[in-house]
Amino acid sequence: MTLNDVNVVHALDVASFSLPWPERAYKFEVSQNPNSLPLVIELKDDKSGWVIAGVLVIWLILDEAHIGTIAIDAGKRRLGLAKRLLVEGLLMSSSEGAKTAYLEVRRGNLTAQELYRQFGFTIEGIRPRYYKDNNEDALLLTLKSLDTDRLNELLV
Ligand SMILES: CC(C)(COP(=O)(O)OP(=O)(O)OC[C@H]1O[C@@H](n2cnc3c(N)ncnc32)[C@H](O)[C@@H]1OP(=O)(O)O)[C@@H](O)C(=O)NCCC(=O)NCCS
Repeated sequence: MTLNDVNVVHALDVASFSLPWPERAYKFEVSQNPNSLPLVIELKDDKSGWVIAGVLVIWLILDEAHIGTIAIDAGKRRLGLAKRLLVEGLLMSSSEGAKTAYLEVRRGNLTAQELYRQFGFTIEGIRPRYYKDNNEDALLLTLKSLDTDRLNELLV
């Protein structure tokens, strides 16, 4: 992700989440947060060339990769893009020294949970009433060991 991408990324975020990040948060991740790995995935469009189809932000904290957000444009879901983006992000995190990964997901977001299950994430804990818009619980998921062979196999 570059600063030029932030406009489109923010629009994608607003369309994907009931509590989107402010645009300035993406600007901060791109330009000021040294621990951030902000990524986009692009698809080639016949008319407009390469267009942003998804976003992923990972924070690298010591030997942990914390997934801050991941979303794919609603019109481009179920094409394997989230899986590809997350594999690439976790491989990059591993090459930066990450050994484990963490994330939070809404209890009711079964679609995302199915994605994470494929990677081997398991439930580590629950944060009750974590999301302020509807007081939904967050599940805290962890991938105990970032295994690069296993990650690459997910793309086969
Ligand atoms: C969750 C999300 C990122 C998945 O993106 P995607 O590009 O459609 O996912 P992929 O095509 O890479 O699918 C990967 C796996 O996720 C699971 N999955 C994705 N969409 C699913 C659905 N509608 N129903 C059930 N499982 C689904 C499947 O296990 C799938 O693997 P498969 O295709 O081999 O069955 C996307 O739905 C999204 O942006 N949702 C809104 C934002 C969000 O909830 N982000 C997660 C916050 S924790």
